[in-house]
Amino acid sequence: MNDTTQRYHGIAIGFHWLIAILIIGMLAVGKYMVSLEESDPLRFLLTQWHKSFGIVAMVLIVCRLLWRLTHRPPPLPGHLKTWEMYAAAAAHLLLYLLIIVIPVSGWIMVSASPLELPTVIFNYIHWPHLAPFDSLPNKDEVSSFFAEIHEFAGSALILLLVAHIGAALRHQIILHDGMMNRMSPKTPDGKWAVGIVPLTSAIVFIVVGLIGFGYSGGNSKPLGAGESRVHFTFTVQNQESQGSFSESVVELLLDRNNPANSSLNATVNTATVTTGTSQIDATLLGNDWFDVKNHPQASFTSRELVAVGEDRYSASGTLRIKGIARDLIFPMDLVYVEKEPKATGSFTINRLDFELGSASQPDEETVGYQIEVGFEFEVK
Ligand code: HEM
Repeated sequence: MNDTTQRYHGIAIGFHWLIAILIIGMLAVGKYMVSLEESDPLRFLLTQWHKSFGIVAMVLIVCRLLWRLTHRPPPLPGHLKTWEMYAAAAAHLLLYLLIIVIPVSGWIMVSASPLELPTVIFNYIHWPHLAPFDSLPNKDEVSSFFAEIHEFAGSALILLLVAHIGAALRHQIILHDGMMNRMSPKTPDGKWAVGIVPLTSAIVFIVVGLIGFGYSGGNSKPLGAGESRVHFTFTVQNQESQGSFSESVVELLLDRNNPANSSLNATVNTATVTTGTSQIDATLLGNDWFDVKNHPQASFTSRELVAVGEDRYSASGTLRIKGIARDLIFPMDLVYVEKEPKATGSFTINRLDFELGSASQPDEETVGYQIEVGFEFEVK
């Protein structure tokens, strides 16, 4: 087994270990994040990182496949039994299938998602939604279907990886037949396999560079969002009342040199609505109002941000409440509080457009139609 022709090429070995680390991390983070409450801001944050690393994994998997299709792997050693050869071939084929299906189903799931959240890799590169999934009439169903595939394939991959790692350890620890050396980053004489150092350094350099650029500002200094507050004003028997959502998450990518490259997405956890009056709060959670059981989130997704003055932008996009989507345009200002920029803005909606209280308050006698929604969030 010291024969180096029996080893995979350094490039294949490099791809194997990089993709293995990424996939194991993605599986762990994926399972953890979906165990969190939908309204948990950590779930939102982890999902954005998951999408970024998922696309990186997908690109590496495509490169790995291209390498595999153009370079023969070393033949399996002759001492393996026939069943072992078949089992290895079947497991490897299934592994390839799953590592293709998983990222592609993730990409389709987010492309078809009615939330229409963009995928911005490491807060820097806008990754497109996959046509035609972004414009299907039944996006909701398609997105849920691919979410199921993503989940099922992820669980199947976990089982297969246990078998794959188990088989590798069996060769290493019980059979001592040197099979693991075929995929070891170091050759039997202790040197790094040819190509592995430049390949891994280049990939790590690109990924770390993108993360640095995306989150520190980089060339075009895109700005992100921090703590946010969403509040609203409504009228009950002609008296003005205030309410707010105590949990909201804003995702901003503001490239001031090039606003066309910018995006603004905000999600509020509808279950956190509060007006200071517990009776009203309880009513607002129910079916006729925010229907929080079926619609735990309301969201705004920008289509375009246009600079309309210094520190003033016009945001247009889709507001979605109770699953009902409406176009919306509103101004957003950057204001400076102790030199720290904050974004503020407001817009007015007609509650009947979103079927808010349409059964219990179909007219304006008690609750007015107009609701003014205001927001502010840190920009950093
Ligand atoms: C090799 C790459 C990937 C792996 C191993 C992976 C794995 C996983 C796993 C295990 C889950 C949890 C599923 C569950 O149990 O419900 C998950 C969720 C998720 N993945 Fe991936 N994923 C990958 C790539 C991607 C990509 C490329 C995207 C999109 C661009 C993506 C988007 C998502 C989203 C949005 C969720 C959360 C779904 C929800 O909130 O219900 N994933 N992923």
